[in-house]
Amino acid sequence: MSQAPSKEAMEFVGKVIGDATGMMAIRLCAIGDRLELFKDLADNGPATSQALADRTGLNERYLREWIYGISLAGYLDFDKKTREVSMPEAHIPVLVEVGGPLYQGGLFKMFTGFMQPYEDLIEAFQKGGGIDYGTYPADFWRGLEHNSCVRYKNLLVSQWLPEMPDVQTKLENGGSFADFGCGAGRSTIELAKAFPKASFHGYDLFPENIENARLTAEEEGVSDRVEFEIHDISKGVPGKFDVVATFDLIHDMADPKGGLKALRQACKDDGIYVLMDVDCTDDPADNEGPLAVFKLGASLHFCMTSSLGQGGMGLGTVGLPESKVKEFSSEAGFSSVRRLPIEHPLNALYEIRP
Ligand SMILES: C[S@@+](CC[C@H](N)C(=O)[O-])C[C@H]1O[C@@H](n2cnc3c(N)ncnc32)[C@H](O)[C@@H]1O
Repeated sequence: MSQAPSKEAMEFVGKVIGDATGMMAIRLCAIGDRLELFKDLADNGPATSQALADRTGLNERYLREWIYGISLAGYLDFDKKTREVSMPEAHIPVLVEVGGPLYQGGLFKMFTGFMQPYEDLIEAFQKGGGIDYGTYPADFWRGLEHNSCVRYKNLLVSQWLPEMPDVQTKLENGGSFADFGCGAGRSTIELAKAFPKASFHGYDLFPENIENARLTAEEEGVSDRVEFEIHDISKGVPGKFDVVATFDLIHDMADPKGGLKALRQACKDDGIYVLMDVDCTDDPADNEGPLAVFKLGASLHFCMTSSLGQGGMGLGTVGLPESKVKEFSSEAGFSSVRRLPIEHPLNALYEIRP
């Protein structure tokens, strides 16, 4: 007769099932986000599956199944008498308000998007190499943008810049600012809105990002002062600037050391380099808490893997702790690195000077 499972084994089964349930809930959220079901429920109020089908033009049978699942997961409310699903008021800023301080919808798109090239990832485990940027679907890039714009809209200008008074002064006085690896341009655009005298430049090697950045600059009314161009910083610098910045770029780069050398070239001798990257420990095994799992998973699904896909160093999401920032900056010819006293669950911010 087989032995009864140990208490530890049973607890571990519980953990696995809990994790699988969480993963499924996020997938159901991705569907609600992509098909704008969350937005519809927030805008138009409670609905039965049939009313939601009428409102959205989607298939009632699929909606009914989704409604049961997402309500049981605790994301929406379901009234068993009226059979109506509704959006709790407190969930609206988290699920619907893109760019708001509590918005998490970027994660749904990002997760679904970067998990899509699964076979490529398995093959990379077997044969080495990595995944090209172009392999990731548009949802991934949009998710990355929506995820990161939360901090650019809510923290960059109001909380982070006051920690860098010299950067603020340069921008107030009409200085030039260049954002390398600008992605969809949200950081550049938020700064351009705050500093009307300064000139802004955003560079990224992925053409689709630059296209999106230009569209957003138009929508936000700053396209006359913000220039977005396709440019690979490892191929040289497009000019010299009073302030240069990288937001979550360096750990993703194929050649981060070369990138920092190029950034030194792009920074005027009396200029300042603002580096935002992922907060992490010297030993990857020392990273703690659920966000550590998130960071390592993101590394495998994008950061490390896309760098290796370019034949790069593959630093990974937790590959640029403060000690490496200092080492690489010094090798690149910068003379000082100051870590700013910001509290953020994901990011660390540095003011670096030539
Ligand atoms: C993690 S994303 C961050 C995007 C954006 N800064 C943000 O915070 O949302 C890294 C970006 O760097 C870009 N990138 C990677 N290597 C680059 C290089 N050598 N030159 C310019 N851009 C690069 C990628 O295309 C991608 O858009």
